[in-house]
Amino acid sequence: MTSLRPELDVRLNPNAMRAALEHDAAVGLTSSPKTLPAVWFYDAIGSELFDQITRLDEYYPTRAEHALLEAHAATIAEVTKASTLIELGAGTCTKTRVLLDAMAANGTLRHYIAVDVAQSTLEAATLEIAAEYPGLKVTATVADFHDLSGLFTGEGSKLVAFLGGTIGNLEPSARQRMYFNLDSELDSSDAFLLGTDLVKDRARLIAAYDDHEGVTAAFNLNVLNVLNRELGANFDVENFTHVARFDEQHQWIEMCLRSTSHQKVTLKELGLEIFFEEGEELQTEISAKFTAEGVRNELSEGGFVVDHQFDQPGGDFLLTLSHPYC
Ligand code: SAH
Ligand code: AVI
Repeated sequence: MTSLRPELDVRLNPNAMRAALEHDAAVGLTSSPKTLPAVWFYDAIGSELFDQITRLDEYYPTRAEHALLEAHAATIAEVTKASTLIELGAGTCTKTRVLLDAMAANGTLRHYIAVDVAQSTLEAATLEIAAEYPGLKVTATVADFHDLSGLFTGEGSKLVAFLGGTIGNLEPSARQRMYFNLDSELDSSDAFLLGTDLVKDRARLIAAYDDHEGVTAAFNLNVLNVLNRELGANFDVENFTHVARFDEQHQWIEMCLRSTSHQKVTLKELGLEIFFEEGEELQTEISAKFTAEGVRNELSEGGFVVDHQFDQPGGDFLLTLSHPYC
């Protein structure tokens, strides 16, 4: 069977993306504390750095989730009988192959829709998937997963996968909005597979976000290069250090960039000057850690019925399979 070229479905308007970056930088950098949403990490270099993170000794989530998928993908394929796999924040689509293989073995697989903001990464990844799965319809959808309306064009029943623990990069209110949005796009015969990282030993958690090779630091600092390139800013990356700590109250890892001096930064294209005190932090990411019960509760509040939870002895990571109430 011949390979079909992936279909490219660009839902992000470059002007709207640009306006969103300008808004996030103008609002976030003038707030106290200063913040930037994590979505701006993922330019081509940031996506490549994240890919390197997934192979670090300290970064256990990718390996743990991969092992869970290997162990349970056949059950997921059999229970859902889905013919369309929609993956949110698909990135390099590496773990996706385990699900695609199981759905193909089950005889139901027809269409794979990969959704991500990082267009070049997504195009390269879906080209590889299309070559590896002849006959499979593959769509690369360049979109913000906060706006799901009309994205789910696939045929037959759908399995939406949100893997990697990316849900944990959203604040609780944004997670609830995402579940409601998903719920309104799906039928009760569709399914939602959610990957979440679990609360664990603090030292392991912090090491996963502050690796000894400095790859996570480079990933974090790269967001300043994005602002320099896109908004004519003059951040000196050397004047910031990477910080990762566990917030016990919220049960999440918080990543920041700490200013090593009192300094002024200009964002030419915004006509904005901002000042950092020595030691002042710019918050760049949260990565929430969950319990199985916490995931069940928030999915149920978001309109989903949990059918299965898969974890492993030692409990590093969790996969939760659910479906909308109605
Ligand atoms: N699912 C993959 C990749 C996780 S990295 C894995 O498990 O390894 C997070 C991915 O989400 C990146 O590819 C990033 O570009 C994408 N992403 C982040 N914010 C997004 C948003 N708002 N809309 C769509 N994709 C987003
Ligand atoms: C994409 N996301 C789930 C990663 C995480 O673990 O929160 C992003 C990341 N940040 C630092 N390392 C990895």
